[in-house]
Amino acid sequence: MLDFEYHAPTHVVFGKQSVERVGALVAAQNCKKVLIHYGGGSARRSGLLDRVTQALEQAGVSHVALGGVVPNPRLSLVREGIALCRREGVDFILAVGGGSVIDSSKAIAYGIANDGDVWDFYAKKRVPQACAPVGAVLTIAAAGSEMSNSSVITNEEGWLKRGLSTELCRCKFAILDPTLTYTLPAYQTASGAADVMMHTMERYFTQVDTLGLTDAIAEGLLRSVMRDVTAALKNPEDYDARAGLMWASSLSHNGLTGCGTDGGDWSCHQLEHELSGKYDVAHGAGLCAVWSSWARTVMPANPARFAQFAVNVMGVQPGADDTETANRGIDAMEDFFQSIGMPVRINQMGIDLTEADAQELAYKCSFMDTRKIGRFVPLDRTAIYEVYQKAKA
Ligand code: NZQ
Ligand code: ZN
Repeated sequence: MLDFEYHAPTHVVFGKQSVERVGALVAAQNCKKVLIHYGGGSARRSGLLDRVTQALEQAGVSHVALGGVVPNPRLSLVREGIALCRREGVDFILAVGGGSVIDSSKAIAYGIANDGDVWDFYAKKRVPQACAPVGAVLTIAAAGSEMSNSSVITNEEGWLKRGLSTELCRCKFAILDPTLTYTLPAYQTASGAADVMMHTMERYFTQVDTLGLTDAIAEGLLRSVMRDVTAALKNPEDYDARAGLMWASSLSHNGLTGCGTDGGDWSCHQLEHELSGKYDVAHGAGLCAVWSSWARTVMPANPARFAQFAVNVMGVQPGADDTETANRGIDAMEDFFQSIGMPVRINQMGIDLTEADAQELAYKCSFMDTRKIGRFVPLDRTAIYEVYQKAKA
């Protein structure tokens, strides 16, 4: 195993009545004015926005609101949010929604705490020096942004989807009430669970010697998410299943499942960000569509690691050798994704990927042919293109 640092500073308030705590949690931040940032309508329809607004008013916190965040959140709304916050003297951003809302909130928070164009940070032209404080009321178990150090924004000019990871943007608090996720459509529940799994799997598939405890946490989390998502799809109001998914969302992307490894591979995320940047697909679904093609490409570099995954996570019977066991595990994961209604090929998301499309995605994913992605097996532009080709149908 490698040495590591673990920093998970977000104050988590978990449970059925946790939303009622939002007023006190924001008031404790001693801010002048809060931006309540939300999505396309689910938080309004469910009455959550009213509950949050009332709680802030009872705590004497002044606020403005900005809705309209879409999945794969857009830079244009971030810019609108920054202008609004500057006009109104906002110094705290409260995200009420999923990963897209939290990421848009983090981007606004970077924007108001630094001069110049916020996109420079996502384009890696400059490094942010500060970030205004952000808190979250989470409504979907998925991206893990509520405890992660990341935010991912799409620039409509060129449809570039780019991530930014720094310690500055970690949420001050995260309110996790599993009942808020009862209203999720089945597809979003499944896509979210797949993303939760992938945040651990990206860390799990590493070539370095791992810490047994980290492997056990990762394998246990994956088995637990598979069980809970299956239960939540059967009964959307299964509290224990929703609670398991929500807590896994946070633990899967706050670094816990990567302690002692090299930070993970992350190829599938890079491959997927190009897909959702160009085709606006749900992030978790896009991950499922590329995962097995990536896995079959890189598995020969370390069949033993994939064999461990196959046995400990997917519960398959070992084959004659590690390669056979590994392949059984990849097949089993494909079956599982399909069992929860997720695609395992790009065409299953209604995208007919042409050769030119695959070339374009590979060009963008390799940052115009200037970088390789992943660590398990670093993939250059040509290798990326080949994974897209394998995954297309
Ligand atoms: O906009 P509304 O109406 O709220 O609808 C949303 C949206 O359509 C809906 N939804 C959310 N909670 C709901 C609900 N519908 C009914 N009831 C509820 N309780 O679900 C849809 C998806 O929401 P979104 O926020 O987009 O989902 P998710 O949390 O999966 O976030 C996806 C974004 O996060 C990025 C992804 O790339 C994508 O842009 N990621 C962010 C990461 C991070 N910051 O650490 C890491 C991830 O790997 C990921 O890349
Ligand atoms: Zn993800």
